[in-house]
Amino acid sequence: MKTPVLLCVLLFSQSWAFEFVIDGEWESETSGPSGQYHHSERYRRSVLTSEEEEDFEAIQGNDITVKSYKVESRITSRFAHTTVKSSVVNSGANAQSIGFNVQIPKRAFINNFTMNVNGITFVGSVKEKTVARNLYAQARARGKAAGIVRTNSQAMETFRTEVHVPPGSKVEFELHYQEMMQRKLGVYQHTLHLQPGRLVPLLQVDVYIFEPKGIKFVTASNTLGEHLSELTKITHTKEKAHIVFKPTLQQQRKCENCTESSVDGEFTVMYDVERESNAGELQVSDGHFVQFFAPSDLSPLSKNIVFVIDVSGSMWGLKMKQTVEAMKAILDDLSMDDYFSIIDFNHNVRCWNEDLVQASSIQANEAKKYIQSIKPNGGTNINEALLRAVQMLVRASNQGLTDPRSVSMIILVSDGDPTVGEIKLNTIQKNVKRVMTEEFSLYSLGIGFDVDFDFLERIAMDNRGIAQRINANHDAADQLKTFYSQVSSPLLRTISINFPENAVNNVTQNRFDKFFHGSELIVAGKLQPSDFTTLQSITTASAANMDLNIQTEADIHGLDSVLSTHQHSFTGFARQMWAYITVNQLLAERSLASTANKKRRITQRIMALAVEHQFVTPFTAMLVEGHDQGRAERLIADSPRDSRHGCCSATVPLSGPQTVKQLLYSKPPWIQPTNAPTQEASGKLESTAITIVENDPHFIIHLPKSNMDICFNIDSKPGHILNLISDPGTGVTINGQLVGSKKMKNNKIDTYFGTISIYSKTHGVQAVVGTNRIDLMEGRNNHSFSWGATAELVLNRMRVTIVKEAHVTVTVDGKISVMVLLHRVWKKHPIQVDFLGIYMSNANKYSTQVHGLIGQFAKEPEVKLYGVHEGADPKKKEATMEVKGNKLAVTRGWQKDYRRDKKRGSDVYCWFIHNSGKGFIDGSYTSYILPQLDSFLTSI
Ligand SMILES: *[C@@H]1O[C@H](CO)[C@@H](O)[C@H](O)[C@H]1NC(C)=O
Ligand SMILES: *[C@@H]1O[C@H](CO)[C@@H](O)[C@H](O)[C@H]1NC(C)=O
Ligand SMILES: *[C@@H]1O[C@H](CO)[C@@H](O)[C@H](O)[C@H]1NC(C)=O
Ligand SMILES: *[C@@H]1O[C@H](CO)[C@@H](O)[C@H](O)[C@H]1NC(C)=O
Repeated sequence: MKTPVLLCVLLFSQSWAFEFVIDGEWESETSGPSGQYHHSERYRRSVLTSEEEEDFEAIQGNDITVKSYKVESRITSRFAHTTVKSSVVNSGANAQSIGFNVQIPKRAFINNFTMNVNGITFVGSVKEKTVARNLYAQARARGKAAGIVRTNSQAMETFRTEVHVPPGSKVEFELHYQEMMQRKLGVYQHTLHLQPGRLVPLLQVDVYIFEPKGIKFVTASNTLGEHLSELTKITHTKEKAHIVFKPTLQQQRKCENCTESSVDGEFTVMYDVERESNAGELQVSDGHFVQFFAPSDLSPLSKNIVFVIDVSGSMWGLKMKQTVEAMKAILDDLSMDDYFSIIDFNHNVRCWNEDLVQASSIQANEAKKYIQSIKPNGGTNINEALLRAVQMLVRASNQGLTDPRSVSMIILVSDGDPTVGEIKLNTIQKNVKRVMTEEFSLYSLGIGFDVDFDFLERIAMDNRGIAQRINANHDAADQLKTFYSQVSSPLLRTISINFPENAVNNVTQNRFDKFFHGSELIVAGKLQPSDFTTLQSITTASAANMDLNIQTEADIHGLDSVLSTHQHSFTGFARQMWAYITVNQLLAERSLASTANKKRRITQRIMALAVEHQFVTPFTAMLVEGHDQGRAERLIADSPRDSRHGCCSATVPLSGPQTVKQLLYSKPPWIQPTNAPTQEASGKLESTAITIVENDPHFIIHLPKSNMDICFNIDSKPGHILNLISDPGTGVTINGQLVGSKKMKNNKIDTYFGTISIYSKTHGVQAVVGTNRIDLMEGRNNHSFSWGATAELVLNRMRVTIVKEAHVTVTVDGKISVMVLLHRVWKKHPIQVDFLGIYMSNANKYSTQVHGLIGQFAKEPEVKLYGVHEGADPKKKEATMEVKGNKLAVTRGWQKDYRRDKKRGSDVYCWFIHNSGKGFIDGSYTSYILPQLDSFLTSI
């Protein structure tokens, strides 16, 4: 007699379960050849309710021995590949079913499932659903084994397999799935559900993280027994982390002699990556690229929010209590720059205030009282409430109440479907879409399970927002607050990440409506074949008061050679990540597609990609095939056509990728590119007069009329702020603060410029260039950038161009321009510190009132030089100089111009004035010491 092998693979949804039992004997009562299925009464009880979920068992069966249970995740650049493996023996006296169940995150795609039953290996491959079903049906027609996997649309879903085996059988299961980590509130979170349901001799969890830019922090936590928390071991180097959790059988016990396992819950790894600049991270691997963008240190945009709160009868009790609690915290969080109002609705729609009001603490308190007094009752008129909210925002915008750069949003909190007014969901969606403007977005929160979450998700997606389900429990207020914090700090709007047209194709969504603090924007694509060795991206966006244009670069081959040397990295991550994002975007696009024809075309694309990249999606299935004594055995794994979307921070309707032809940076003509001087540029350099401050401050003042360079040093103290330009006429002051060397040299601390401030009083903007950071400020807004990326920033009338690790040019009003050159020394240099050089064009257009150590020479003094003679040092001639009515003994020497060659510099010959420029500068150098970086000179 043939060994009966019964395979049955199930996947549960909240409300139903399907069973596919495949075996010659069972054929008559299970799926037909067309793949239609039979709802088995026997399995109806298997529906996962929250109660039963607690009884979830990864491995099911009586009289079985579970030899091992291993979970391994390899995360490389935010993309995770997880493998769950278990080895089980039927140690009972009878044939029986052994179940292998895995809870996987909804966002993950199953890639592979393999099984070894008594030496017969079943290997999975993803195929178009119809293809898989036909193959499966053919196998079935011949009485072969097969099964099915189903996915649903909850946050977690359960992959379920059952195999019926004779006594003594050994079964090995192996499930693979992949998912992209999404950064939320500054953290990537990778959650594994560990519920073996029994004691396992070899239980092990390994999470390997590899992040090329470095791991900022990594922690692990779990909801397992307390004594188990301490067993997690984390080893962590700059770019790698390994998290191991390996409780012994004894440690797994709930209590000393218990047979129950306390390993039952979530195991979570949290981490963030280093970001050395605001430009993000561009990675290229295996012909694909991924750009990550998560800037920080930017002032948030102000926001205008209308809270639309469902107060129908069903909200009565816990839901309302939790909503009130959350709203109190949210209202407290609003700042004076924000505007808000509240609309509460049941069958009627009421407004706390007909118009948006400024979020002062008085208004926030009034609003809290209002919310607290609401007694939920009646029906649900979502349509009317949303239309009123949009009207409110439109009015505020038309009346000029809101800042054009601010962010306007509607936050809808509802727990049920519409029952009053317009109740057709599609019509509501159309109505809202019609009145919404491109500037507004809608976020929807569904409390509990009585609400059509798909509708909330569609209407949010359709209006540049996202939706979230809130579980109606004691935790609901926290869930609401957490959601709110994710969208409460918009830092940028209209973000566009572009790549050179001829370098890439198949770019995923690259235009985003908003960027929220703590989140991350991700764009992926394919590289076009070329000889290029680097890839560049340009990101443009608007911040509170600033326009950004940031450049990121990546070496095309560097990462692959690094990955190949790391044992536990996930090579091929970029390829899978690109496919993951693309498939999710197509699924979202499909759910919003207006015609059946469009939907069909999108479905075709999803299927092709999912097959190529081996993802089980609503349109693909996994066929699991094996050979037993020469005959094919087949299992099928697929999922229903549910709506599955909302990947990523996709908050805008999809638009085709946009590429840039040119990367343009406007530079003043006199700026020399470091490292690469061209013939043309050198010509310009010669013809342009420059005033330089370098080293321990050496001033080189160029006097064009006399065609002479004059230099002097200033001997001042660390911390002192020296004025270079003070021009009340144009409202510009340029000051530099000194830093000292780490140690004395020749009994003296050398000083250098460590900070340069360029302040325009007229426009209220200030750029503070330091050796670590560049801060741009206007009013309350303060944006920080590092030297780590090339960027162009426009803040009111100030333009700041950062050339990565080289120099920053600040131009005010197109008239006054300063280049600050960065000198980096070896980090552990015993004496030297990083410092700044300053280069100013004599073409700067100051007013006649300009003064300062440099400014005073805008009006060129008359200089007479005579009596040139050999000096004490034969290389240094000496002379007498007549200037500003003084006779000065000067020495011929040279100073360095570092624009062309930052290491060695080029010599500039000059006449050196002794005693801190005494006699050449007006008054004493001490009169140029100012209290603040934005101070003007008062008198000399
Ligand atoms: C699935 O896993 C098996 C066993 O590891 C492997 O042989 C097979 O190639 C995998 N299938 C795919 C499509 O990766
Ligand atoms: C566990 O079992 C051992 C051996 O039977 C016994 O000595 C011990 O007291 C038990 N411990 C507890 C806490 O019951
Ligand atoms: C600007 O922000 C940076 C970091 O975000 C901070 O260190 C600095 O003190 C701020 N400057 C001002 C003037 O607020
Ligand atoms: C990628 O882009 C090329 C050229 O635009 C196109 O022919 C191809 O179909 C695209 N592939 C996918 C998977 O979208």
